[in-house]
Amino acid sequence: MTTTRFLTGITPSGTPHLGNYAGMMRPAIAATRTPGVENFYFLADYHALIKCQEPERVHRSTLEIAASWLAAGLDPERVTFYRQSDIPEIPELTWFLTCVTGKGLLNRAHAYKAVQDKNAEAGRDSDDGVSAGLFMYPVLMAADILAFNAHQVPVGRDQIQHIEMARDIAASFNHLYGAHFTLPEAAIEDKVATLLGLDGRKMSKSYDNTIPLFCPPAQLKKLIGSIVTDSRAPGEPKEVEGSALFQLYQAFATPDEAAAMRRAYADGIAWGDAKQMLFECIDREIAPMRARYDDLMAHPEKVEAALQRGAERARAIARPLLQQLRTAVGLRPLSATLAQGTATPKAGKAALPTFKQYREADGKFYFKLVAADGRLLLQSTGFAAPRDAGQTIARLQKEAGALQALAPLLAPVAGVGADEVSAALQALAEAANA
Ligand code: TRP
Repeated sequence: MTTTRFLTGITPSGTPHLGNYAGMMRPAIAATRTPGVENFYFLADYHALIKCQEPERVHRSTLEIAASWLAAGLDPERVTFYRQSDIPEIPELTWFLTCVTGKGLLNRAHAYKAVQDKNAEAGRDSDDGVSAGLFMYPVLMAADILAFNAHQVPVGRDQIQHIEMARDIAASFNHLYGAHFTLPEAAIEDKVATLLGLDGRKMSKSYDNTIPLFCPPAQLKKLIGSIVTDSRAPGEPKEVEGSALFQLYQAFATPDEAAAMRRAYADGIAWGDAKQMLFECIDREIAPMRARYDDLMAHPEKVEAALQRGAERARAIARPLLQQLRTAVGLRPLSATLAQGTATPKAGKAALPTFKQYREADGKFYFKLVAADGRLLLQSTGFAAPRDAGQTIARLQKEAGALQALAPLLAPVAGVGADEVSAALQALAEAANA
């Protein structure tokens, strides 16, 4: 069975609000419980530097966002949850990709063009305030995705173009250097509820009309009290359509509760009573998370430890892939070339893992797979005949799914993930076909 790998980045800017939670975090966390999927969620802190050059804010926001996701129920055992800047393979891959990306492709990126258009409107130079970081953003984002060969990338509509660019960039690289990358697809969440804010417009930082997700209960109550309503008195019927208050209630209530509130509106519930019900309904869901959030904010080392574990798991995949890519683009140790006095394929082989066969004192035949740096990647169980060991090796090298199918004949090696072994086998298969 193949699992689908989902990957998405969260740029740590600002503090999450109820709209972020109901529209994005809650459905994303629910999606991680789907069987047959693997999830990679990361804090895109390199991306944050494009927009924010206040070090304290970047730092604070990274902690707040990480703590929010963990408090809201993201399970770091189930999801590979990490911080982009802990993965040095990402900037390395960014450079490899930069060199196969046409500048013209980046000229067409919406994010960059939007700034240019604003400059034109204001009569400024078109590149005014445009950093090379903003221009390169789509390449960094492609590296985020391709470093893990993700299949599906859940994003909002505004990000579709970036996923298409990641596909284009991956295809250019594959064309030049061989089929290293899966072409990713955008997974668009169309049903996302965008909540309305305090003033009835879309809840958004830029309108300054948000309710912070984990503000203290007293502040939550106060903010709910400030949601704009009209002057209709208690007893006068009210409509739910366009009511920010009702819409928020619906996002947190059970369907039965929402239906009851709809009737209460028609029956002329007082705004004050409706607001009290809204407060209780939101607080019921948020209170346990708020307690976890406050604990994590008081113990940032817990958040750090979770992210470090995530980074280890992520790097177990990205590291061997980058090793393979370095070889593919021609960045190889020179020693082998000099010793052979010749061509590149030999140098390439120097970085490849090798299978070793041997016999043990128990009279059985074994093999192991050893990385170029001597690390043990895979260890077989004992075979009665050398032929059986040899055939198993051959299957591992030829069949894509063999690693799973042959698992009963293999003994696990502590600290080595299946992804790393797959990447090593793939590198061997590619070298054999080259
Ligand atoms: N740019 C995305 C945003 O602003 C965040 C992001 C960064 C991302 N890298 C990613 C999303 C990779 C998906 C995949 O929303």
